[in-house]
Amino acid sequence: MTGRPPVTADVDLALERLRAGGLVVIPTETVYGLAADIDRPDAVERVYAVKGRPVGHPLICHVADAATADAYGDMSVEHAATLAAACWPGPLTLLVPRRPTVPDIVTGGRPTVGVRVPAHPLTSELLARHGGALAAPSANRFGRVSPTTVSHVLDDIGGLLDAERDIILDGGPCPVGVESTIVDLTVSPPQVLRHGGITPEEIARLLHVDLAAAAGESRTSGMLASHYAPATEVRLVEDPRAGRELLERIPGAVLIDRTEDLVEAARSLYADLRDADRDSTTLIIAVLPPARGLGHALRDRLGKAAAR
Ligand code: TXA
Ligand code: MG
Repeated sequence: MTGRPPVTADVDLALERLRAGGLVVIPTETVYGLAADIDRPDAVERVYAVKGRPVGHPLICHVADAATADAYGDMSVEHAATLAAACWPGPLTLLVPRRPTVPDIVTGGRPTVGVRVPAHPLTSELLARHGGALAAPSANRFGRVSPTTVSHVLDDIGGLLDAERDIILDGGPCPVGVESTIVDLTVSPPQVLRHGGITPEEIARLLHVDLAAAAGESRTSGMLASHYAPATEVRLVEDPRAGRELLERIPGAVLIDRTEDLVEAARSLYADLRDADRDSTTLIIAVLPPARGLGHALRDRLGKAAAR
């Protein structure tokens, strides 16, 4: 059966449905996630199916705290304790060697696992009471813009969930607005595999190392050239004035320019892209923020939205 599941802040009901093998849409500080208990392979399979995500693209394990993370990934690797202490709960995913407790379907058979402790009161309570790990990708269809509100989630996957088995925890709009930063601690020096809510400057400051650029082939699906894409063409400009000129010349164009305040730009990025992506829009013009702080993540996501 499908149909709109309950939209609620009822953690008791969420826990009940999780334990019965249902899916729970969870609010996090970054974006909404589509969560399953990693010990329910049937539920994890449904996550892939609802998302339309190719199996083999690994899922992040969400846990209540660093001690629980260590039950799923080896948190004794260099830098893990430092980053966990400084950034968790928060928008950072650590890639560490996987422990046998993590099923193949979660990691796509990789020897590594991504672990993260999200910062949202409803989800923190759910994770603490659950005790284990929840595998959760962003709660959007594969390749689409991530959801930062329940209404985004309903637009994307509302009709694909099961009213009797699943549940949407409504935690309001996500305050950070872009996904977690993914840092690979299985290589030396560590690599940032995906820019996100924790800046590379902050990580370098905490670790006293120069981070390596992510090397080689697309190691995470977020590294595919085209991802997070609206249906309308997106054109990037470096300068707000160039954006305004283009806007005047092209009928039906929409301009996104939030370069003044990067925190607000991140918080509203996906809502801006969804709002701009209407049938009447001929072109989305986006002004790129400077490549510092959250600007790294914003430039990355806008670049992917513009790639065809
Ligand atoms: O902020 C976030 O990280 C959100 C919220 C819901 O927590 N989650 C999220 O998940 O963005 P998802 O599945 O949309 O993106 C996770 C990325 C993917 O690009 C995936 O390939 C990569 O993390 N990833 C996860 N585990 C990995 C692993 N073991 N090795 C390499 N990449 C991994
Ligand atoms: Mg995603």
